[in-house]
Amino acid sequence: MNRQWLYAKQPQGKIGPDTFQWTETAIPAPREGEALVRTRMLSLDPANRAWMMGKTYRDALEPGQVMSGFAIGEVVESKSGGLKTGDIVEGDWGWQDYAAMPARRLAKRTTKAPFELLIGPLSVTGLTAYFGLLEVGRPKPGDTVLVSAAAGAVGTMVGQIAKLAGCRVVGTAGGQDKCDWLVRDLGFDAAVDYKAGGVYRALRAVCPTGVDVYFDNTGGPVLEAALSLMNLRGRIVCCGNVSQYDVEKPAPGPMAVPGLVVTKRLRLEGFIVMDFYDQRAEAEARLARWVEEGKIKAIVDIVDGLDKAPQALIGLFEGRNKGKMAVRI
Ligand SMILES: NC(=O)c1ccc[n+]([C@@H]2O[C@H](COP(=O)([O-])OP(=O)(O)OC[C@H]3O[C@@H](n4cnc5c(N)ncnc54)[C@H](OP(=O)(O)O)[C@@H]3O)[C@@H](O)[C@H]2O)c1
Repeated sequence: MNRQWLYAKQPQGKIGPDTFQWTETAIPAPREGEALVRTRMLSLDPANRAWMMGKTYRDALEPGQVMSGFAIGEVVESKSGGLKTGDIVEGDWGWQDYAAMPARRLAKRTTKAPFELLIGPLSVTGLTAYFGLLEVGRPKPGDTVLVSAAAGAVGTMVGQIAKLAGCRVVGTAGGQDKCDWLVRDLGFDAAVDYKAGGVYRALRAVCPTGVDVYFDNTGGPVLEAALSLMNLRGRIVCCGNVSQYDVEKPAPGPMAVPGLVVTKRLRLEGFIVMDFYDQRAEAEARLARWVEEGKIKAIVDIVDGLDKAPQALIGLFEGRNKGKMAVRI
């Protein structure tokens, strides 16, 4: 049987177990040009929730469809010349054991690394941190780099890459434990618990010379505080807005933003990781080398069992993860 989670209904406010519906169906047969893929690991991403809010960089989810999500798996049957049984592939086939996918929507992975790394640090997560920081943020040695959701999948990678680039690195995360862990285990210079209140004052204390690059994973209060702390010609890398995904209605933006952007000559630039996929091979090779040489710790938070996927996604919005949250099947 093919076990699946369907996207059952649009949440009013926070997602809950009733956002999803479990179902079991026959394993599909691949048609000409398709491959049958068996899922090995599912990526849990804040974006999964954002896709429920309406059109983003992709179409909104429709109730009744298999819950979308990025995954990695192996080809168990192929009717496509480019793929053979046993190939490891990644793609967006969602929360299910098996999928018959057009070969053109699958990317073959040839890197010899465990699934735990291929699902995040050596794939979308690592690439998001790499391109966002190095191509959009363009840090220089000695710069102060601030990153929000610093203990999460992208944040842990951003902080460590910024250290390799010779920067001073400050993170924000929910809870003192996570903050202590960032400094003790990942080499951050300082970390601030944004849930403790007074985030602007706390950040000002640990960024005495201001912020040159702010890698924004959250939007919300940390972005507001960062705007006031930015140095002249600072860069704000708009990567995501996780504080506004799991809500009924996103909060209106801060009124003073345009003034601050003008006077400080800031550059706010959004990006989607796929924008840089023409440079993907080189970036993946560098990330893999850094991990292999121990220069970067690849932090993964693995939950076992497809049945746990909804709870794991809900957990992202409660800050239950450290590093990349993924479901092993
Ligand atoms: N632009 C792109 O191409 C691209 C690609 C991938 C991801 N992203 C974005 O990158 C960001 C991070 O994604 P990720 O996969 O690395 O997820 P993640 O950081 O591993 O997980 C989300 C984290 O966000 C924090 N969080 C949850 N609710 C929050 C709130 N209301 N305010 C502030 N923080 C909150 C939680 O940590 P705390 O304990 O700190 O609260 C949680 O651990 C997201 O915004 C995502 O959409 C963008």
